[in-house]
Amino acid sequence: MKDLSTIYKLSVIAFALLGDVCCSRCSVLECWFVQEKPGGGGFSVRMSQEKSALYIRTDPDSEKIEQKPPSDISPSRVYYVSDPASTFCSPALHPPEGTVNKPQCEINPFTPQASMVKWAAPLTSSAQSPVYLSADWFSVAAQGLNGELTLANVMRAPSGSTEPSVILSVSSKTSTVRSRLGEPVVLDLSFWVDPSSPLHGSGFAVEWRYQFRGEGRLVVAYDGKNDRFAETSETDAHLDIVGLYETGNASLVLKEAQVRHAGTYICTIYLPHLLAQVALELEIVEPPALAVYPSPLPLSVPGQVVTVHCEASGFYPLSLDLDWEFTDAEGKKRSLGQGSVTGHRQARDGTFSQSSRLELDSYKLGLGRGGEISCVAKHQGGSRRATVTLNVIGVSAPSIEDSMAMVAVALVLYGVIKVIFWTFSSNGTSNEDTNGKPSPQPPSGTIPSKPSGSSGRPYGAPAAASELNR
Ligand SMILES: *[C@@H]1O[C@H](CO)[C@@H](O)[C@H](O)[C@H]1NC(C)=O
Ligand SMILES: *[C@@H]1O[C@H](CO)[C@@H](O)[C@H](O)[C@H]1NC(C)=O
Repeated sequence: MKDLSTIYKLSVIAFALLGDVCCSRCSVLECWFVQEKPGGGGFSVRMSQEKSALYIRTDPDSEKIEQKPPSDISPSRVYYVSDPASTFCSPALHPPEGTVNKPQCEINPFTPQASMVKWAAPLTSSAQSPVYLSADWFSVAAQGLNGELTLANVMRAPSGSTEPSVILSVSSKTSTVRSRLGEPVVLDLSFWVDPSSPLHGSGFAVEWRYQFRGEGRLVVAYDGKNDRFAETSETDAHLDIVGLYETGNASLVLKEAQVRHAGTYICTIYLPHLLAQVALELEIVEPPALAVYPSPLPLSVPGQVVTVHCEASGFYPLSLDLDWEFTDAEGKKRSLGQGSVTGHRQARDGTFSQSSRLELDSYKLGLGRGGEISCVAKHQGGSRRATVTLNVIGVSAPSIEDSMAMVAVALVLYGVIKVIFWTFSSNGTSNEDTNGKPSPQPPSGTIPSKPSGSSGRPYGAPAAASELNR
């Protein structure tokens, strides 16, 4: 019985999901209908903006679903769109109910015209079907949520009707692409042309332009009519011609991402008299390489100031946070501030470098016996950290190494004292011992090094003995 009820529940859920897929996923898209205000003369073009709704059906033969449009939408701005390739059906355009952010969508009247650019002009060199063109044309631009889709469609409706069909669709799944330096980059783009349209099979052209802060250049242009690429200055960008013809894959491939590639890429697909374009962003993000020097740090004594430098290089874009951090012997971390950060420098490849200098006064900064000194760089490409070890010697609480050093020093002192003692005592006894009794030898091994200050005659006893032997 329990099993049965579970099955029942599951099937209810399944039905609910199916229902979701069938009827709400791709049924309606709200758009702004934007057009020039009629009669809006003068210098500034005045635009009007009205709410509009697109009811989508992917099967052109299916019944038109008569919907009662929302009350705030004029019935003349409700469109029943036939979209056999489901170009409007991406989940990015149909977020779940209750999502705060809405996808953006704009629909405009569109006027077919011959293109003048060199690679698209051959498309309209011969007379095209003007009868087909005399209709109501619309262009739709839509942005999915989370940058998952950028779409530009051109639709045609018999004059006066509100039932347009998608004729040309251009879309990208990656409206923003982020790449590190030196990696190959694919700017995704595909297009679709309604096979039942007379424009299908009458040629196309592809153009990729680059735009950054007012600077623009042609990256790739392909004239499909003559199967010819236009000359461009860009040598490491290409299109896959097979994919272009077989699947409408017009993705732009950059062999190796460089700083100069960062910016906006506008792809335009031309059909005779029509065009649709989308814009993609390529972001180059490269975290810095970090180096701390001198490495290793010299030993220091309390109060001595040691200067450390941290050099961050090869990063892009500019903004970078440099910080110093101290980790003591117990592993406790503490910030030492930013240090003195220099201005940035730009290398020939466009990447930046910047450095920071820190004066390490172990006494003032309370660094005790020392620890790890880290330089931490925070960059939008990720955090980087470089570390050196600081050893402060001769501080009250001894470490094992310090204790060992102390034992060694004690042994040396002990030896020195012994030597002095023997020197004196042997001198004192040398007169008494004239009977040829040799002085005691210093025990070997207790004197690790020649003590300084014993005036070139460290071992008093043998010297005294040799004097006696003369
Ligand atoms: C389109 O072409 C690019 C580059 O050749 C390729 O990386 C990508 O996978 C292709 N996309 C599809 C959907 O086949
Ligand atoms: C050693 O003793 C002699 C005589 O007893 C004395 O002249 C000499 O100064 C002494 N040397 C030292 C290093 O004390």
